[in-house]
Amino acid sequence: MLKAVLLFSNFASLFIHLKKKIMKQTMPINGKFSLAELPYAPDALEPVINAETINYHYGKHLQAYVNNLNALLPGSPFENLSLEEIVRKSDGAIFNNAGQILNHNLYFSQFAAPKENNTPSGRLETAIKQQYGSFNAFREAFENKGSTLFGSGWVWLSRDQAGTLKITQEHNAENPLKKGLTPLLTFDVWEHAYYLDYQNRRAAYLAELWKIIDWEVIEQRY
Ligand SMILES: [Fe+2]
Repeated sequence: MLKAVLLFSNFASLFIHLKKKIMKQTMPINGKFSLAELPYAPDALEPVINAETINYHYGKHLQAYVNNLNALLPGSPFENLSLEEIVRKSDGAIFNNAGQILNHNLYFSQFAAPKENNTPSGRLETAIKQQYGSFNAFREAFENKGSTLFGSGWVWLSRDQAGTLKITQEHNAENPLKKGLTPLLTFDVWEHAYYLDYQNRRAAYLAELWKIIDWEVIEQRY
């Protein structure tokens, strides 16, 4: 009986280890990256993000970044590297497209159907409260970074190697991974992310996004 329990726990820890590894690296298959699957239906995030926005943002913009990267990789020094390694090592058009794929994969995979009073729990909640005083104070600081980012880019919550949380603004296709940080949560502030639903009201879009954050995903990244 004890043997069976030990065997099961070994399998369980191996599975968790593999899952973490898979989450950290996105490898091309036969030299090509593909469009990551959405973990929900295109209308699941309504009314925060409408299906039309998902169809353009995920179906057209993200698909274009995937197609562009796949066309640029053959013959480059980045063939057969993981997406994360390409983002760390490349620049120019390859970096722009790889960065945008990684950023959008992290963005689209962090959402779930809207919930009121949707807040983190566990260790992440404790860390946010310790560093920012309260979830609302953190939320205000994060939205402020998103509203004040000039032009196109992303606002990120990341953790450093000591576990300290950081909120950063990243322009265009940049990702906090390049600063040695682990990205946890991101709001896309390129106009294509919100224009159909909110037009020029970026602050309103940022304020609504909290309703659709899947905190289990963010806690797992943490
Ligand atoms: Fe985007």
